[in-house]
Amino acid sequence: TDRQNRQVAVFGAGYIGLVTSACLAELGHRVVLRDIDPEKVRILLAGDVPIYEPGLGDMIARNKERLRFTLDLDEALEGAEVAYVCVDTPPSVSGDADLSRVWSVVRSLAGAAHLRAVVVKSTVPVGTGARARAALDEAGLTGTGYVSNPEFTAEGRAVSDFMNPDRIVIGSDDPAAAALVAGLHEGIDAPVVTMDVRSAEMVKLASNALLATRISFANEIATLCENTGADAMEVLGAVGLDHRLGPHFLRPGIGWGGSCFPKDSEALRQSASNTGFHPMLLSAVIDVNNIQKRRAVQKLKDVLGDLAGREIALLGMAFKPGTDDMREAPSTVLASRLAAEGAHVRCWDPLARQGEAEPWLSATRYASPDEALDGADAAVVVTEWPQLKDVDWARAAAAMRRPVLFDGRNLLDPVRMRELGFTYMSVGRP
Ligand code: UGA
Repeated sequence: TDRQNRQVAVFGAGYIGLVTSACLAELGHRVVLRDIDPEKVRILLAGDVPIYEPGLGDMIARNKERLRFTLDLDEALEGAEVAYVCVDTPPSVSGDADLSRVWSVVRSLAGAAHLRAVVVKSTVPVGTGARARAALDEAGLTGTGYVSNPEFTAEGRAVSDFMNPDRIVIGSDDPAAAALVAGLHEGIDAPVVTMDVRSAEMVKLASNALLATRISFANEIATLCENTGADAMEVLGAVGLDHRLGPHFLRPGIGWGGSCFPKDSEALRQSASNTGFHPMLLSAVIDVNNIQKRRAVQKLKDVLGDLAGREIALLGMAFKPGTDDMREAPSTVLASRLAAEGAHVRCWDPLARQGEAEPWLSATRYASPDEALDGADAAVVVTEWPQLKDVDWARAAAAMRRPVLFDGRNLLDPVRMRELGFTYMSVGRP
């Protein structure tokens, strides 16, 4: 139908823009994805994907008739009915989201009065839509509707999250634009929740804040369990069986990271502070997480004493398995804390992107967990890569200088690891 054959311009070829473009093309729309980074566009035109995301490459390849990539603004806007803003909103010095890329896209739409809707998918502070509305009016797009359509996909499963969402949130003061954008999702079986722009903006921030709250809560309970001899996995498993609470996002670990939770929770906290309101619960959620990332170092010191000159293996560097993303990964805090203690950091990760900054500057990267473990004084499971279950831990215990292991993700069996001779510590388990 006509509803499944819209012409869409997507701005920003990052995680959200790429997934949105591929999925809209999969749904039958004609999509032109525009980015200002020549390297990203070159990679896409060469048939590759600049990020690691399962299923994305295949989806792009099978929709290549309906999916174009360009550096050229006019090519993106020509004939477009809907423009999606998918640029990133990184933290600024103050902790507020830096919206400069959003404004630059909005300004670039000047003259494109044929657009029927401008959709912001980027995560933005509440009130951004009102400012965008004013900017669009100023740019002559008075007849173009504004829509906030926040994104709830998680990295590593973004394609399937987009195609099978729990809900589609559409915030708009313009019923026609809201209906048009809702219609773009035809073929997806999910409730469409329509509301005003500010509320839609807040849904995204509140959702991420509550998910982060559950994890910080689980981490705090895990510490209480360590201090009392209870087993956090038993406790939280049983807590999650209450249907009012549910089992998800209660897994204790080494702290939450990634491109969203740290940035979004801090931005929400700062926007509250900007109005003179101190959000106590949200602040505590952030504090608990900052402490959680540092507890690993103390646990190693409890066993090894002074860490100066020690060889410490970090197993897993990406902020979670299934991604190459290092943004706000707990491994970065851990590596630089260990370096500050004078330890030498050895690391392994199957995918993580190696940047110029910490932790890579002070660490040596190894191609396999075995190589990182050989001769190490201690090791930390930082990211629960499934490969780590298959490590020959009996061999590792013999090959390490000292078989000390902090399992920051409760990935391994404590009984078995101790049988193998490890001084084994985990999160919230005796
Ligand atoms: C998160 C949200 O889950 C998505 O719904 C949201 O759309 C996205 O942010 C976003 O704002 O774009 P993501 O950052 O990809 O997605 O990662 P998650 O899978 O949610 O994990 C976040 C962090 O929490 C990871 O460091 C993970 O290890 C940690 N975590 C997660 C735990 O420590 N325990 C848990 O039980 C779950």
